[in-house]
Amino acid sequence: MIYFDNSATTCPDEGVLTSFIEVNKRFFANPASIHLAGKQAETLLEKSREQILSILGAPDGDLVFTSGGTEANNLSVIGFARAFRSRGNHIITTEIEHPSVLNAMEYLETQGFVVDYLTVDEQGLISVEELKSKLRPETIVVSIMHVNNEIGTIQPIAECARIIKEHSRALFHSDTVQSFGKLPVSLKGDGPDAVTISAHKINGLKGSGILAFRRGIPPQALNFGGGQERGLRSGTVAVADAVALAKAMRISMVDEEQKEFRQWRNRLIDFIAPYDDVVILAPDQAAPHIVSIAFYRVKGEVAINFFQENGITVSTSSACSSKSTTAGHVIEAIGLAEKYKNGVIRISFGKNNIEQHVVEFEQVFARFMALLGRGND
Ligand SMILES: Cc1ncc(COP(=O)(O)O)c(C=O)c1O
Repeated sequence: MIYFDNSATTCPDEGVLTSFIEVNKRFFANPASIHLAGKQAETLLEKSREQILSILGAPDGDLVFTSGGTEANNLSVIGFARAFRSRGNHIITTEIEHPSVLNAMEYLETQGFVVDYLTVDEQGLISVEELKSKLRPETIVVSIMHVNNEIGTIQPIAECARIIKEHSRALFHSDTVQSFGKLPVSLKGDGPDAVTISAHKINGLKGSGILAFRRGIPPQALNFGGGQERGLRSGTVAVADAVALAKAMRISMVDEEQKEFRQWRNRLIDFIAPYDDVVILAPDQAAPHIVSIAFYRVKGEVAINFFQENGITVSTSSACSSKSTTAGHVIEAIGLAEKYKNGVIRISFGKNNIEQHVVEFEQVFARFMALLGRGND
């Protein structure tokens, strides 16, 4: 089976799995316990924290281990909004964020916060001018994703950070779940103030992630209990998850492999472009591992089933957030023509893919188009 759904989740790396099992076997003690075994677990936990912060270029930063990207996004959006409530109640985000940001925003609106949603163009790109015009003295949080999970658009995060810093006192959070390991992500000088990372998107394990942020600006905790993670996330910390995440992050640092993804993406785009009645959702500024396409009056599920029967796993554009088969909010936001809306599929590469997989995809794609009676002249 050829697996091309790496934006939904990736296959865990062998080394990551080994670390996870080893740590669970040998360092299973509670890191909050004061006996020797507890201290050893705590040492491992803190070493993982240090490694992650150093990868993010922020050795003096801070981070909270979470159950994944969803929890980290919730903690960031709601936790920072509550932490800075005395300064204002205005928040800015985009209309194409992951539901873990959008639904948190919706909740904040019920709590008296005012949220502005930046629009995107047909490539899924926000306008920095619009961002600038929306910033107000009472803006306390801005949350803008780095790479969109459905169509791969890269937002101009560094420019956003600069504008936000020049024109407001708002905290700038970026959901970097789809970009970490594919593009440089950092909490250094001109980057965002806080980033979300999820382990299972980078060949780590499901149920593990982080919210990392600059020191001295902690969010307000959303859960209550024993006060672990310096009071920011109560509950016994999963040391093996932390070690496994640090390992996944180390091995997924941007490397040569990314060049291959970019080549495969270009190759696929060139192959598909001549076909009639297919739209390639290929933003100019896009992550190397995501290609979404839309078929004219063919349901995405029909295409997915055809590929599945021919040994290739692809997904509808929003498969990582729900099983919904109707056009998602991103497809609506970019204004895709009605006749293409329900025919979107997403191909996303991961480290277990090889070029031959792309070749086989092309062959199956050609058969599918022939079946639909659509040519490529
Ligand atoms: C951009 C983005 N943010 C957040 C998430 C949520 O991450 P998790 O599955 O770890 O909760 C996902 C994946 O579903 C995603 O693609």
